[in-house]
Order: sequence, then C-alpha cells, then structure tokens
Amino acid sequence: MTRLGVNVDHVATVRQARMIDVPDPVEAALLAEQAGADVITVHLREDRRHIQERDVARLRQRLTGALNLEMAGTLEMAGHALSLKPDDVCLVPERREELTTEGGLDVVSHGKQLEDVVSRLREAGIRVSLFVDPDVKQLEAGRELGADGVEIHTGAYCNAGGPRVAQELEAVQRAAAAAAGMGLEVHGGHGLDTGNVTPIAAIGEIVELNIGHSIVARAIMVGMLQAVKEMKALITAAGSPGR
Ligand code: PXP
Repeated sequence: MTRLGVNVDHVATVRQARMIDVPDPVEAALLAEQAGADVITVHLREDRRHIQERDVARLRQRLTGALNLEMAGTLEMAGHALSLKPDDVCLVPERREELTTEGGLDVVSHGKQLEDVVSRLREAGIRVSLFVDPDVKQLEAGRELGADGVEIHTGAYCNAGGPRVAQELEAVQRAAAAAAGMGLEVHGGHGLDTGNVTPIAAIGEIVELNIGHSIVARAIMVGMLQAVKEMKALITAAGSPGR
C-alpha cells in the first residue's frame, strides 16, 4: 500500500505569523499519525520561515512513525540533518524568494555538489531521496549519485488542464517505471489534493506520497465549525447582558 507522508509546514507558517507557540506543528503531526499518516514530512528551509530546528528535534522525540526532512542539498544543511537524525532526507532545490518548492532538483548540473551531501547522509544511516521532475536524465543522474530514491514532482500534472492532464500523468507514470527499473525507491508529491490524487496513487511503482497544502487547507475548514462553537459557547456562558 502506498504510504502517506503528511507535510505540516503550513501549521508552522500560521504559528510564525504571531511568533508564539500555537498552532504547534508537532501536535498536528501527532494527530496526523493518529489519522493514519505513515510519515511526517517537514521542510527546514534555510530562511526558517516556518519549521524551526527545535520542531524537528521535538518531532524526532515524539513521532512513532517515520520522519522525513526536506532540505536544500548543502553541506550546512547536511550538518543539521546529521544532528537531527531524521529517518529520511529529501533533497530539494531552494530559492529564498519562492513561495514553495517550484521545480525539481537539477541533479545533472549539480551532481558534484550533491554527491558529498548524499554520501554523508547515507553513511549516517539516513535514506536519501532527490526531488526531481519526471525526466529520465535526472533519474539517471540520481542513481549515479547513489541516492536511495527519488520523489517525482507531480506539480506539472496537478497544474495541468485539458489534454495536458493525461500527458503529464503519463510523464509521471513513465518516470516512476524508469526509476523503479533503476532500483530507486519512488515517491511522489507536490500539488496533490483529493481531486487529483487517485491516478497518482494508482501508480504501482510509487510507494510514498507527500502531501501538505491541501491537507492543512482542508483541516482549517473542517476545524472552523468546532473552533467557533467553542468560543461562542464561552462568550455566551459569561452571561453578560450586553447592551
Ligand atoms: N514534496 C516536496 C519535495 C515538497 O517540497 C513539497 C512542498 O513542501 C511537497 C511534497 C508537498 O507539496 P504540497 O504542499 O503542494 O502538497
């Protein structure tokens, strides 16, 4: 069965808007595990705009399932990963001005820099995957580097409309088959929601999907009713006649 990795970065985004302790991405991760998440994924960005190192350390202590750390493929970030000890690392391209990870890693051009990072992490027993576009050249470069697996970027499929949807799905299917044929473990993610996940989840070679935005967005909508009811009840119970 395909594993579900739940990305809780956006919970930390809301917390950072006030620089206080709530909402806590660790508590959200524990609820996600209760609901069936197999993996918890967080992206420790170089600008620390949402997840902080202490969040990753607390997740490491409290999760029962696997912890997957997304990060830039630099030696500095590798140092953080070696002390935080996630089960898995997914190397992603990172640009400070981007809203979210925009494209896959260019493993073909940056192989030399990534090689050292991949080997240091793997020597420490951390499984390493590379976030790549569904492009066979990138998959081959990933295998050359000695990565354990790849996460195929599903963003182009998710953003496509009309006949492009089938083409982009086919690109993901072909890339998944090629990667598995090279002995790489295949994950997928980015932009997946309840309306587009089914054909991707049906791809036999994909063993893990990482999903963040749509789950956190839905959680806000599902939780709004309860949150407002609780506050309304307290205000009503205070018994002020008002004016
Ligand atoms: N996989 C990777 C490598 C990502 O960078 C992200 C976004 O943080 C995701 C999956 C999840 O994407 P989304 O938030 O669109 O579900």
